[in-house]
Amino acid sequence: MSDGLEDVVAAHTVLSEVDGAAGRLVMRGHSLDELAGHTSFEEMAALMLDGFVPDLPAMKDLPAALGAARQELFATVVQEAVIPVTLGPVEMIRAMTALVPDGEDVGTVLRLLAAPAVFTAASLRLRQGLAPVAPDPSLSQAADTLRMLTGKAPTKQQAAALDTYLVTVADHGLNASTFASRVVASTRAGLVSAVLAGIGALKGPLHGGAPGPVIEMLDAIGAPGNARTWLETALDRGDRLMGFGHRIYRVRDPRADALKGAIRRLGADSGRLALAEAVEQAALAILRERKPNRTLETNVEFYTALLLEALGFSPDSFTCVFALGRTTGWLAHAKEQIAGGRLIRPQSVYVGPQPRQAA
Ligand code: ACO
Repeated sequence: MSDGLEDVVAAHTVLSEVDGAAGRLVMRGHSLDELAGHTSFEEMAALMLDGFVPDLPAMKDLPAALGAARQELFATVVQEAVIPVTLGPVEMIRAMTALVPDGEDVGTVLRLLAAPAVFTAASLRLRQGLAPVAPDPSLSQAADTLRMLTGKAPTKQQAAALDTYLVTVADHGLNASTFASRVVASTRAGLVSAVLAGIGALKGPLHGGAPGPVIEMLDAIGAPGNARTWLETALDRGDRLMGFGHRIYRVRDPRADALKGAIRRLGADSGRLALAEAVEQAALAILRERKPNRTLETNVEFYTALLLEALGFSPDSFTCVFALGRTTGWLAHAKEQIAGGRLIRPQSVYVGPQPRQAA
């Protein structure tokens, strides 16, 4: 067994398949190409939860049900709870999510799908000293997230770009946060606890916490001509380049191109995209020179950073938006684990000292 468990199969799932050698992601029988850019957050949630939450509202009623859940969370958590704004945005949404009553029923599922949208927008505004904006249940979850963030209705293109992002990151095999969610769900602790475990794991820079540092890297590099020197210096210091490398993919992460396409469709700042492309090319070349035996390619976080920046999210909130997309996957995996019924409880090999024998 390796330390990172990559040679261990810990679940059979109908939810997603990651083919790291071919650079292919399939979610519930559909390739990422079929889904990203063609599916809304609500449609993706219905697809992923199909068969696991029998009383989930039908697709025609799901947007309104999610809108009602957003309103309920705004009234019961955002307007009632006192959460210190000195916490980071991910810590704030983790604290707010912990106030949602635990359970495994459809109401809990709807509240958890809605929670990161309401809590992310509220956290970001509270940290800026602004009053949170109440949800508009008539909007789609993507459009309402952007509206609650800025106070203005987004354009169709902006809402579509956020939908593309949320669908792209909805699920990805047994990644660290999904595994954490499944372990907690297997104890029958409830779906809120399972999602909290996912948020906790996602927060780390080796998992969902990478895109914020990608923006810091682009800002520090400043112009394409500075890329090579800056990247070489970072690697000489022993730093990892954020947005590159992946445990499973040995080729380019297919999600990177899905998101790059969304950035182009959004018509975001072309200078920023040109800088990012120059940094990407320089980083890939240097990583090939320095790690010839290891394939290190662009991962999802690199273009996540650019897309979420273009949509007006601050870099310290990118992980919260990731949680908004990935909650769909965490919930589906938690439900699948509960349906399978067994407690996850692996073995360990003790390598510490033994008690001294009595003389
Ligand atoms: N920059 C520089 N070197 C790297 C990078 C990188 N981004 N990624 C891996 N390496 C090097 C490691 O230092 C190691 O070198 P060594 O063998 O000389 O010690 C070698 O490549 C193998 O690395 P591992 O740690 O075995 O790779 P692992 O599969 O454990 O890690 C990970 C994958 C955590 C994503 C890693 O590539 C990384 O830290 N990337 C940067 C952070 C990042 O972008 N995270 C987001 C991942 S996507 C997601 O979780 C949604």
